[in-house]
Amino acid sequence: MQIQTIGIVGAGQMGNGIAHVMSLAGYDVLLNDISEDALTKALETVRGNMARQVGRGKVSEADMEAALGRMKVTTQLSDLGPSDLIIEAATEREEIKQAIFEQLLPHLKPETILTSNTSSISITRLASRTDRPEKFMGFHFMNPVPVMQLVELIRGIATDEETFAACKEVVDRLGKTAASAEDFPAFIVNRILMPMINEAVYTLYEGVGNVQSIDSSLRLGANHPMGPLELADFIGLDTCLAIMNVLHDGLADTKYRPCPLLTKYVEAGWLGRKTKRGFYDYR
Ligand code: CAA
Repeated sequence: MQIQTIGIVGAGQMGNGIAHVMSLAGYDVLLNDISEDALTKALETVRGNMARQVGRGKVSEADMEAALGRMKVTTQLSDLGPSDLIIEAATEREEIKQAIFEQLLPHLKPETILTSNTSSISITRLASRTDRPEKFMGFHFMNPVPVMQLVELIRGIATDEETFAACKEVVDRLGKTAASAEDFPAFIVNRILMPMINEAVYTLYEGVGNVQSIDSSLRLGANHPMGPLELADFIGLDTCLAIMNVLHDGLADTKYRPCPLLTKYVEAGWLGRKTKRGFYDYR
C-alpha cells in the first residue's frame, strides 16, 4: 500500500515532532488535537525547530516552507478520513487511546493502517478493540523526534507482514532506523532505560549520591548525553512512573517496583521540565 497522507492524533511533544519529520520527508500531514491552543503551539514549535535546522544548514529554507505547507491542523477527528496511516500520539492512558480509535474508525478507509506511539501500553490489547488488528502496530518515536535516529516498530500478536513492511518503509523514508520489537511490557528501549532511571532515583533516595553526582557519573563515566535524572525530567516523571508501573504489573517482578521517591515527586506535581520542577528547578 502506498502511504502519502499521515494522520497524527495528539499535538504534544511527541505529536508535533512526528508531524515535523513526516512533513519534511514529503508526507501530507493531518495533525489533530482536541485543543485549538495545543495545535497553535505545535505549529509554533515545529516552525521554531525547523528554523533551528535551517540555521544549522541541515534543512533549506525552501524545504522548510514546503514542509509547513504540507501540514494541516484540525480539532475534528473526522478530518483524518483521507489518512493512509494513523499515528496516535495522545496522552499515555489506555482508555483515552481506545476512545480515539473508536471515534476515528467510522471515518477511515478500510485499508488505513493504525498505529500508536505508545511507550508501553499493549499493542495487542489496543488492536483487539479495533476492526483491524492485523493492520495495527506500535510506531514508537524517541524524544526529541527530529534528532533521535530510532523508531521502535512493535508487532501485536495479529499484525500482518504487509503492515509491518509499510511502516518500515515510512521509517526508511524518514532516514531513521527501525528496531523491530515484540509486544511485551515497555518493548525494548523502555524495558532497559526505565529501570536504569528508576535505579538512579533509588540511588538518590538512599543517599548514595546527590542529583549532580548521579548525573555527572553517568554523563562522564558512561558517556551518556544526559544524566538519568536530567533525562527523567526531560521525559516527564509521570511518564517514567507510568512505564515502571506497566513493567511491574506486566512482568510481576519486584525488580521493577517504582522508587517511592519517584511516586512522591509525581504526587507533588513535580513532573520535570514540563511543570518547571522535577529533580532540577527550571523556574
Ligand atoms: N528539533 C530539532 N533539532 C533539535 C531539537 C528539536 N526539538 N532538539 C535538539 N536539536 C538539535 C540541535 O539543533 C543540535 O543540532 P546540531 O547537531 O546540528 O548542532 C542537536 O540537536 C543537539 O542539540 P543541542 O546542541 O541543543 O543540545 P545537546 O547537544 O545537549 O543535545 C539532546 C540535546 C539531543 C536532547 C541530547 O541531550 C540527547 O540526546 N539526550 C538524550 C535524549 C534521549 O535519551 N532521548 C530518548 C528518551 S526515551 C524516549 O523518548 C522514549 C520514551 O518512550 C520515554
